[in-house]
Order: sequence, then structure tokens, then C-alpha cells
Amino acid sequence: MKLVNRIAIITGVSKGIGESLCKQLLTEGCVVIGLGRNNNAIQHENYQFIPTDVRNVSEVNAAIEQVLASRHGKIDILINNAGLGYFGNVEDLPLEQWDEMFQTNINGMFYCTRKVVPVMKANGVGHIINISSTAGLEGMPMVSAYCATKWAVKGFSESLWKELRDFKIKVTCVYPGSVKTDFFRNSPSIQPHDYMLMPDDVAAMIVYSLKTPDNFHQVNLEVRPLQPKGPKSVQ
Ligand SMILES: NC(=O)c1ccc[n+]([C@@H]2O[C@H](COP(=O)([O-])OP(=O)(O)OC[C@H]3O[C@@H](n4cnc5c(N)ncnc54)[C@H](OP(=O)(O)O)[C@@H]3O)[C@@H](O)[C@H]2O)c1
Repeated sequence: MKLVNRIAIITGVSKGIGESLCKQLLTEGCVVIGLGRNNNAIQHENYQFIPTDVRNVSEVNAAIEQVLASRHGKIDILINNAGLGYFGNVEDLPLEQWDEMFQTNINGMFYCTRKVVPVMKANGVGHIINISSTAGLEGMPMVSAYCATKWAVKGFSESLWKELRDFKIKVTCVYPGSVKTDFFRNSPSIQPHDYMLMPDDVAAMIVYSLKTPDNFHQVNLEVRPLQPKGPKSVQ
């Protein structure tokens, strides 16, 4: 499947996986619309940035309506990528951090998806990518709230692909292990390093998934660093 002239919305494009996705989808020939609080430095005739805090349903609605009212007039791909994590003992986690994670990682995904699904249903085509995490597959000490949001992404995604498959809309949930991005800025113990996954490689996997044939649906993509703490000497 070629992606030329496909209209792709990506949330959270200022850096990391979202920025890599913008670059790679532009190379594939997509029209890319980035939604986020901050833009990246990409200059490309097929790239447009619409300032959007995904926690704000009015801003999300306005951004998507702006895309539909433009010459593009449709949305083929939605990548719900915007997200963040805070870490720590459950009794120490400020309510504001709990709320920000749920509002961004879950509400933002819901706000975007609910606006885009009717468009994809009307067009009889679409692919929604939700970025969960391996924290959406297993519990981790000091990561309870972030894990809870990413388990919610899993539940949402697994329900949605069954709900939308007969409308020819694919839903793929991505479960990366640690990726070398700015994500760990709030972590007291983890610094990004070269044994993590690279954002370009995660983005390339997602682009591959978007290019699969119509009748080929990758439901879940779990990907981890082979040696997340570096090589161990083995006998
Ligand atoms: N890095 C990892 O190890 C890892 C592993 C598994 C899953 N993930 C997930 O992958 C996704 C991308 O993370 P990343 O690793 O690329 O981290 P990142 O470099 O910190 O990028 C996160 C992106 O989300 C945006 N964002 C945050 N809050 C937002 C909001 N309210 N509205 C709009 N955009 C917002 C950020 O933009 P601003 O400039 O506005 O902050 C930024 O562009 C996240 O969902 C994350 O949970 C990451």
C-alpha cells in the first residue's frame, strides 16, 4: 500500500516518536497535520501544524474541523501519540500529575478518535494508531498511574478494532519498551541511553504497519530493546 496523498493527523509532534513519524510519513508522500502544544522545526509543503492541547476538547474539535474544512477534506490516518509519564510512590503522586497523565494519555486519545471515526466511516477507510507502552502490558513499581493510563489505552484499542473492523478501519495499538526520547525527563532514576529503542525505529515500524494491505491488520505491536541495560557477558 502506498501512502502518497494520505492525510495523516499525528498528536504530540514537537519531539520524540511524534517528530520521527512526521518526517517519515512526509517522506512517504503523506500530507501530515501535527497537533500539539509545540511545533517541531520541519519545513515541508505537505506539513501543517495546528496548535492543540489534546486535553482540551474544544481545541481538538476545532483542529479536526479545520482539517476537514481545508482542501484535504478527509482524514485517512490518526496517530494518537501525545503522552507523558510521572513516576513515584503512589502516596507521593500529586493529584495534578495523575490528572495530567489521564487527561493527556486517555482523554486526548478519546477526543481525537471520536471526531475522526465518523469521517473514516463515511469514507470507508482509515487507520488509527494508539501508542500504549509495555507499561500497558505489565505493572511496574513507582509507575502505577502511568501504567493505569497505558492499560486504558490497551482496553480502548482492543474494543475499538472489533467495533470498527467492519467499517474497513484498522486500529493498531503499539507497545514500545523504553525509547530514547525526552520522555524520561520526569524520571528520578532513568536517563535515556543508546541501548533503548530509537524513536526513528519505532516510527518506521508504525509506517510499515500503515503500508500493509487492506486485508492485513496488525492489531498489536509489542517491541522492546533486546538488551535494555546493555550487553551482559555470557559463558
Ligand atoms: N519514550 C519511551 O520510553 C516510551 C515508551 C513507551 C511508550 N511511549 C509513549 O510514546 C508517546 C511519545 O512519547 P515520546 O517517547 O516521544 O516522548 P516525548 O519526546 O516526551 O514526546 C511526547 C510528545 O507529546 C506531546 N504532548 C504532551 N502533552 C501534550 C498535550 N497536552 N497536548 C499535545 N501534545 C502533548 C509533547 O509535546 P510538548 O512539546 O507540548 O510537551 C511531545 O511532542 C507517548 O504516548 C509515550 O507515553 C514512550
